[in-house]
Amino acid sequence: MDRLDGSAHLMIVSDLDFTMVDHLDPDNLGLLRFNAMWEAYYRQDSLLVFSTGRSPTIYKELRKEKPLLTPDISIMSVGTEIMYGESMIRDEDWEQYLNQNWNREIVTEETAQFPELTPQSETEQRPHKVSFFVEKIKALKVIRFLSERLEKRGLDVKLIYSNETALDVLPKGAGKGQALAYLLEKFKVDGKMPVNTLVCGDSGNDAELFGVPEVYGVMVSNAQEELLQWHAENAENNPNIIHATERCAAGIIQAIGNFSLGPNVSPRDIGDFKKCKVEIYNSCHEVVKFYLFYERWRRAEVAKNMQTPNLIFFPLGTFVHPSGVEQPVNHCIDVMARLHGDKQGTDYRIWVDRVSSEQVGSDTWRMKFYKWEAFGEEQHGCLTTVLLSSKAKVPDGFTWMHMHQTWLEGSEPKDQTTWLF
Ligand code: GLC
Ligand code: MG
Repeated sequence: MDRLDGSAHLMIVSDLDFTMVDHLDPDNLGLLRFNAMWEAYYRQDSLLVFSTGRSPTIYKELRKEKPLLTPDISIMSVGTEIMYGESMIRDEDWEQYLNQNWNREIVTEETAQFPELTPQSETEQRPHKVSFFVEKIKALKVIRFLSERLEKRGLDVKLIYSNETALDVLPKGAGKGQALAYLLEKFKVDGKMPVNTLVCGDSGNDAELFGVPEVYGVMVSNAQEELLQWHAENAENNPNIIHATERCAAGIIQAIGNFSLGPNVSPRDIGDFKKCKVEIYNSCHEVVKFYLFYERWRRAEVAKNMQTPNLIFFPLGTFVHPSGVEQPVNHCIDVMARLHGDKQGTDYRIWVDRVSSEQVGSDTWRMKFYKWEAFGEEQHGCLTTVLLSSKAKVPDGFTWMHMHQTWLEGSEPKDQTTWLF
């Protein structure tokens, strides 16, 4: 929450399953396009919030399976758990607040009376969330009777039906919308209200997000009937909400363009950076661009006769490989030349996460970020520090001076020889 000194330029609050993550896209291209755009243009002055129905346990599983960025804030279990930063520090005030008129035992007692309800797995039962599966045709009736019974027992609850299968019972003050309203209030008190907020979702538990005042919203093209119906009944005339024509993360990029919230072209959609407008060059964009080039080099998506990027490296620079071995930059360039196309036709991908830039001299920047490579089932990442200088006369303005990498815990590959940068 305190990562930025001032107000976020843009705060994106996005659901994960079938919004940020397209489970029907095995190449994760939409997500990778969003990631590159976020790290190049937004990470420095904006906030990324994931708001998911998943419990922390299966949220962490998803982060291992998919190339998800590290969010600034994670809201889990349908707005009942709020956590800050990479170390995911819990907001205990929020959980205290949700205790009002909530009694989990009464909820389990009453729901047990409904044979139509099948409890979800243990991991998805949380202190302020009791979750079931229920068939669509039975859902409406169950919801009506169950809320009457719980009300009679003195509880203030909220029942949310999502994905045409899942029923969540939460305290009335919980939910994705309430959690966002709580965060916005905190920002307001700190004088750090985001300039713009964009909410993104696809299913029933996301509906509340679109009801939060003064936010922009995108229902991705693949949104579920239950969300579209909520919109038709409650927000049809709100010009700040769109139903995208693009699926999942591509729909989020589309909304950024539609509402003019900032740059909306992913570096991944740029084939030739030389034809790009100059204003978009900054040190973060440089990092994203280099790794994109490197991915394309290994996938043979750039021609071999295109110069290896000797030009951008300082000839006397040194690279400390994550194994700890220090290598002269020329050695790395030679190896890179040999690896052209070694990943052609595979699912090899690279992305960077948490890119930060600190100006350390009149023309020098210290960049820090996580660099990830995925190939088949394997995913490896390292913490990278690079010194960039803008003095040398190179076409895009930056020279890579020195680089230092260390493996992120437990993520080193068995064969470290093809990890170069
Ligand atoms: C996620 C959760 C599940 C919940 C559903 C809808 O799938 O894992 O417990 O019911 O979202 O909110
Ligand atoms: Mg979803």
